[in-house]
Amino acid sequence: MSKELIENAKEKFGAIIEGQLNRIEEMKKSAGWTDFSTLKPIIIGICWGDGIGPIISKHAQAVLEHVLKDEVAGGKVTFKDIDGLTIENRAQHKKAIPDDVLKEIKSCHVILKGPTTTPQAGDKWPNIESANVAMRRYLDLFANVRPVRIPKEGIDWCFFRENTEGAYVLGSKGFDVSKDLSVDFKVITEQGAERIIRMAFEYAKKNKIDRVTVVTKSNVVKTTDGRFSKVAFRIGKEYPKIRLDEWYIDIMTAKLIDPARRKEFKVMVLPNLYGDILTDEAAQLQGGVGTAGSANIGKKWSMFEAIHGSAPRMVKEGRDTFADPCSMIRASAMLLRHIGYSERAEKVEMALEVCGQYEKKMVITGRDTGVTGEKYTDYVLSWIDNPGLKTRWEQGIINNKSSKL
Ligand code: IPM
Ligand code: MG
Repeated sequence: MSKELIENAKEKFGAIIEGQLNRIEEMKKSAGWTDFSTLKPIIIGICWGDGIGPIISKHAQAVLEHVLKDEVAGGKVTFKDIDGLTIENRAQHKKAIPDDVLKEIKSCHVILKGPTTTPQAGDKWPNIESANVAMRRYLDLFANVRPVRIPKEGIDWCFFRENTEGAYVLGSKGFDVSKDLSVDFKVITEQGAERIIRMAFEYAKKNKIDRVTVVTKSNVVKTTDGRFSKVAFRIGKEYPKIRLDEWYIDIMTAKLIDPARRKEFKVMVLPNLYGDILTDEAAQLQGGVGTAGSANIGKKWSMFEAIHGSAPRMVKEGRDTFADPCSMIRASAMLLRHIGYSERAEKVEMALEVCGQYEKKMVITGRDTGVTGEKYTDYVLSWIDNPGLKTRWEQGIINNKSSKL
């Protein structure tokens, strides 16, 4: 009996290893970066998603259309609706991303994606893989870049979360070896670690930041986290002006809520799951997960999204119009910067910070005690157009440096 179980497990493990070795070969031959300056039109695909997704994506699109008015009129930028990334359609096809939807996505250059429902065991949906995780893997969006800024406290963090490996790459490939034994896998490759760590160092260099922090649990998870940390120190040698330090994820979560220490961290690079957890904590400090955007960057495609989920409870309770669109607006700012419109991205970010952290003339509470997402978007738009934006943004902040991707 146990011999058969072991043989069975060996076979599954063999297939997994084969898949990962092939992935390494793909990474080795991956092509160059997309050059947006030569593209006409740049196609921005919008996946509406589930729950509050359609509503907050609409608000974010309104901001993009507003700041890209001239480019849309001149044919440099165009939007494409992608309708099929809904839980109903995905459940019907029993696929994280149905083939025709993936084809549509691949026909765009960048994607703005509303949150999608991730099925879990026991709910009414087939237990298919998360659409985010699948999209990150299918499009090889290896860098999940998540800035969190609280200028009035001097906090300017940028998290570089590895996005295609770690506990996620085989997240739906674990198996029950027997009725009592379950096994999942965690993977780190030399190439996968190197590309995200290099991106973190390049960002630090570009922004004249003299410190990069690698976050692992390499004292316990010795092989995979150990490799991540080793690669970081190897790459670090190429950047002699930047100090690299390593922190363990447990103490890092504590330090983020230590007002005396937290602002000394700037650039953090970390494996997938630690990045997932730490960025929710960081976003909460900035004003809630509803305020944080996330860029999923690959060489060919990139996808921009909120860091939170689809909030089905808000829809069920009829509160979806009160959902905070700021995460998606922030994601749109990151999209703007990625396709070459940095100044406009900066304006959007400054407007979000003036509205959410300084002026606070309107507040979003997620219910009727605050304003609707639509009203709030108008509030942000009014600041984007306000000639006094920069001056207002500079008032009362102790660190007006805002680092650029
Ligand atoms: C995120 C989300 C996703 C993740 C979920 C929805 C699969 O939490 O983007 O951080 O775990 O990566
Ligand atoms: Mg998360």
